[in-house]
Amino acid sequence: MTQPTPAETPAQTPAPHANGEVANPHADAPTVAELNGVRKVYYKPDGSIMVEALRGVDIAVHEGEYVAIMGASGSGKSTLMNILGCLDQPTDGQYLLAGKDINEMDDEGLSQFRGRTIGFVFQAFNLIPQLTVEDNVAVPLFYQGVDPAERRRRAVEKLTLVGLGERLGHRPRELSGGQQQRVAIARSLIAEPKVLMADEPTGNLDSRTGEEILTLFEKLHAEGMTILMVTHDDSVADRCERVIRLKDGVVEWDRRLRTRGSV
Ligand SMILES: Nc1ncnc2c1ncn2[C@@H]1O[C@H](COP(=O)(O)OP(=O)(O)OP(=O)(O)O)[C@@H](O)[C@H]1O
Ligand SMILES: [Mg+2]
Repeated sequence: MTQPTPAETPAQTPAPHANGEVANPHADAPTVAELNGVRKVYYKPDGSIMVEALRGVDIAVHEGEYVAIMGASGSGKSTLMNILGCLDQPTDGQYLLAGKDINEMDDEGLSQFRGRTIGFVFQAFNLIPQLTVEDNVAVPLFYQGVDPAERRRRAVEKLTLVGLGERLGHRPRELSGGQQQRVAIARSLIAEPKVLMADEPTGNLDSRTGEEILTLFEKLHAEGMTILMVTHDDSVADRCERVIRLKDGVVEWDRRLRTRGSV
């Protein structure tokens, strides 16, 4: 019996959006994040392997892309996002952030470079309860030694961008979940990063409030921001340009859906 060629074989797990796949309009833009053969192993205290969370991941994200990272629970999404966000280091493989090999930087150099390059948004907002909204947003500038007047000017600018210019003096607990996440996004943008990274940014929000965040991301993307977001929600991923699906620590598929925004 003649075996069908791969082209004739239907994909075993058809991608939901295979029909809408398009070429990458950002392919000529510089690469913001590039992983080559990245592995991440978690070890037991006795030195034996506990989990191989990433088993050889190759991904290149170009400036201006809007990417969703999907996959079942335990597939390695957070592990991958933490490596992309320089919150954790790969066990093996190379990570080029904005063209620079992070392995070649010392801790201080990496911390500075990370601060200028990446804005990171957490599912749980991670705001400081005692500080006002304005001061929360300005925190990264404090660590960069920016003077108070300039910190204030830039915090107001970013809070206005996320639609919270009227809430400067509020404390986080006086805001809704969606508003708190918008404060966290304003904070992530304060140092004018090249890329915004978010692990389940709508995960703690109801769908209507999650919508506020997606609308904001779409606006940022239309203005040219590169966005990488972990989500387990198909309706959220549907609104991105590209979906990377992880399975058991490897890329199962990587598809471009459409172009959006300014491109
Ligand atoms: N600090 C850790 N120590 C040991 N194992 C870990 C650690 N963090 C994650 N793992 C394991 O690595 C694998 C990938 O975990 P990860 O958190 O990246 O998954 P995920 O895709 O983000 O899942 P979820 O959708 O539930 O958030 C899992 O098997 C997990 O148990
Ligand atoms: Mg996770």
